[in-house]
Amino acid sequence: MSFQFQRKSQSERERILLEKSEQFLACGIRSTTIRPGYNMIMKSGKGAHITDTSDNEYIDYLLGSGPMFLGHSHPAMVEAVRGRVDQGTSFLLTNDVAIELAEEIARVVPCAEQVTFHNSGSEATYYALRMARAYRGRDKMLKFEGAYHGMHDHALMSAQFTMEPADFPQAVSNSAGIPQQTSGDVLIAPFNDIERTVELIRKHADELACVMVEPMCRTFTPLPGFLEGLREVTRELDIPLIFDEVVTGFRLALGGAQEYYGVVPDLCAGAKAVTGGLPFGFVGGRRDIMELAGAKGYEQGNHVRLTGTYSGNVISTSVALALIKELQTPGLYEEVNRKGLRLKNALVEMLDHADIPATVIGEPTAFQPMFTSQEVIDHRSYLTIDWAKNFRLIELLMDRGIVKGQEKFFISTAHTDDDIDYTIDVLKDSMEELKKATF
Ligand SMILES: Cc1ncc(COP(=O)(O)O)c(C=O)c1O
Repeated sequence: MSFQFQRKSQSERERILLEKSEQFLACGIRSTTIRPGYNMIMKSGKGAHITDTSDNEYIDYLLGSGPMFLGHSHPAMVEAVRGRVDQGTSFLLTNDVAIELAEEIARVVPCAEQVTFHNSGSEATYYALRMARAYRGRDKMLKFEGAYHGMHDHALMSAQFTMEPADFPQAVSNSAGIPQQTSGDVLIAPFNDIERTVELIRKHADELACVMVEPMCRTFTPLPGFLEGLREVTRELDIPLIFDEVVTGFRLALGGAQEYYGVVPDLCAGAKAVTGGLPFGFVGGRRDIMELAGAKGYEQGNHVRLTGTYSGNVISTSVALALIKELQTPGLYEEVNRKGLRLKNALVEMLDHADIPATVIGEPTAFQPMFTSQEVIDHRSYLTIDWAKNFRLIELLMDRGIVKGQEKFFISTAHTDDDIDYTIDVLKDSMEELKKATF
């Protein structure tokens, strides 16, 4: 049956839970928009759909911010958990599944000769940075304006939340509680501006531990030559190039953005698409750098410490292993890209037809409408978007049973053509309202 949506009146349970979340959760209620009338408390997810505690079912394009690439509660993920959960979950000692998974990642991710396991994308970028620092014997990191690498102190600099950017390469802290001196260890460059970036890298080469980049920076796709240029200059100067593949890994292609765009970094950080939503992350990379985390590091007096109580636990690694196998189903990427592209192209057409100044950027399974007449290729052009339209779109979709985050439409292999058709119809009906959006 085709998807239908008629909002049910709020259940007593959801009303009470909303109150309690304000009372007991320090961050309050997590919502995709800013008007409180749209707050809801989720209770379950299956495939590409999620359900709230008033029993409203939504088509989900937030997908937990990306991890549910194969849909919620995918049978392979459920089976992987069930198949191991009664045989011990965490040992701190190397286990059989972790080795199998490491071998599999090394087989499919181009830069990964060796891997380490962690518990989130933030941990993965944090440890990749530490490895690079040890390898280079230098402290500073160069990242790009608008790029998000997680929640650790060095990552939360000039990320997408930055409304008032500073002059390059000055970093702007995005959170209270980060030591002031941290910003001095982070240099900021303009994404997609290879000349300016190479100039900054050359100027600061003696201080740099690494260059970290989201190969698709949020949804800014790399201009031809940008990633290649980064590769060239970092190779020449022997500065590790780190791809943050937390979003793009296993999503753009089995081998991630490095396979998709054809540029292989020295290190990469991965997480979301193979986690099934469980805590998991990994660093993969060149053997001579990765080895610093093991006996070689001790021998060289340059050992990188990065163990964690839950790192490589049997449940997360079993799920990742099962999902990587699942991703090798013939035709899977063609099919998910086809569906994503269908929605993306339909959105472009509708915005154009409705005469709404906008462009839709990103790749077929992670794209975003940008409400501006400018071409959006970096953070500064992103800042020209009409935020009222951005938020209004989320509300118009939610009114009709569709959940989307503030940034991307994430597409999963579980979205059906029926889901896409329904979404296109809703978008069509929303254009006139969207045009009028103001705060
Ligand atoms: C590109 C990128 N890197 C790192 C992270 C941090 O990952 P996590 O939330 O698992 O810590 C995210 C999270 O959204 C991300 O999008």
